[in-house]
Amino acid sequence: MTEQRGNWTSSAGFVLAATGSAIGLGNLWKFPFITWENNGGAFVLVYLVCIAAVGLPIMMAELLVGRKTQKSAVGALKEAAGPAWGLVGLWGVLCGFTLLSYYTVIAGWSLFYFVQTIGWTASGFPAGLATGDLFGEQVSNAPLQLMMSLGFSIATVSVVYFGVQRGIERIARLFLPILFAILVLMLVSALGMSGAGEAIAFIFRPSFSELEPVGVLEALGHSFFTLSLGMGAMITYGSYIARNQSLVKAAGTIVLLDTVIALVATVIMFSVIFSVAGMAEQVGGSTVGMLFISLPELFYTEVPFGIILGPLFYVLVALAALTSTMSLLEVVTSYVIDEHGIERHKATVMCGSAVFVFTIFAALSFSDVPFLSTLAVFEGKTGWFETADHFVSNWMLPTGGLAITIAVGWFMTREQSESELVDETTPGWFSYGVWRFFIRYVAPVAVAAIVIAVLRGTDFS
Ligand code: PHE
Repeated sequence: MTEQRGNWTSSAGFVLAATGSAIGLGNLWKFPFITWENNGGAFVLVYLVCIAAVGLPIMMAELLVGRKTQKSAVGALKEAAGPAWGLVGLWGVLCGFTLLSYYTVIAGWSLFYFVQTIGWTASGFPAGLATGDLFGEQVSNAPLQLMMSLGFSIATVSVVYFGVQRGIERIARLFLPILFAILVLMLVSALGMSGAGEAIAFIFRPSFSELEPVGVLEALGHSFFTLSLGMGAMITYGSYIARNQSLVKAAGTIVLLDTVIALVATVIMFSVIFSVAGMAEQVGGSTVGMLFISLPELFYTEVPFGIILGPLFYVLVALAALTSTMSLLEVVTSYVIDEHGIERHKATVMCGSAVFVFTIFAALSFSDVPFLSTLAVFEGKTGWFETADHFVSNWMLPTGGLAITIAVGWFMTREQSESELVDETTPGWFSYGVWRFFIRYVAPVAVAAIVIAVLRGTDFS
């Protein structure tokens, strides 16, 4: 039995689910790190421009293809732009599959740190504990990695199993308000720290001499990742939207919330880091470093109310990750449901299990497993996990995004897209002509620049 379409219970339900997909490890894990790497201010400004000029128009494009066709990625692109475009949808499904397989591993780490921090809150932070070593031990502990990833996969499958209304929307409605509340608490605490002023200046005061050209492409590449674009997640979620809802308003809200949350997370993390002497130098290393090595200890040594906020923070990471993994699994599952006529329960378990096989590969890439830990396809990337991440962020999302903009901008007629975007619910600030110009010219040229840069050897992951 295929599910009835058009079945978010309300526009708020849809906006929460899509915002949940967008807000994830990209906001909490990647964005603060690349902002750090690119020296703040100017990078943030460029990122905001990319979000507005490329992310927002493509968000509208994906939602409109979904709602117009009421089909998941493959069927939707076929119907909207022509049979050959189904391949782009398939590329998206493959991308969702791959991304989900390793995203689950990082999500699993948040479970580990949740348990750790609960222990520290109960009995104190162990004196002399080296958090770098702790991280190293947990990632290379194969049984532990497998258990945590399995736990997280089961959680994802359990949500998608119950479908759009009773699974995805229900969880998004429950978790997103919790997520926002935790972030507000953390923001209040962080703003009270001595490094807050410096953090805000670092993030919001642009100094263009410090931004390298590749930073611009990195900002653009990240706008795809963080908004869940380029692989059909928003097409799929769009296919469940009712006719009487404004896509423009929804897209605006999702993009705005995702951006605000990324900035808030960055302010929080940098306020903590700038408050501690010598921390800024230490963080330099890696993205993982900030979230799972520097922060855990600081909650217990520096952050006001840290013994409460510590565990809450890792709950936040886990919830943000789950509302993203469920959208990734939905892309794969809805494809199997729609195109192969398999019933949802069976399809979810099948797809979840198939993805998990690859999650095992990713989870074991930090242990001494031959091939999985040594695989070297891309320069500077070692092991299955890094290879998969590189392939998705650098190759799959930008190429998928480029194809989607061309499909919508050039292979759908004006009437077809206008009828989805413009009606009596459309807000006054929206101009169809401007959108069309961006989707036909600005977005493809910008995204093509990423693809060309990648072909010439630039690395975004
Ligand atoms: N947007 C998510 C994040 O920022 C990642 C994601 C990408 C989720 C694509 C779904 C689809 O973490």
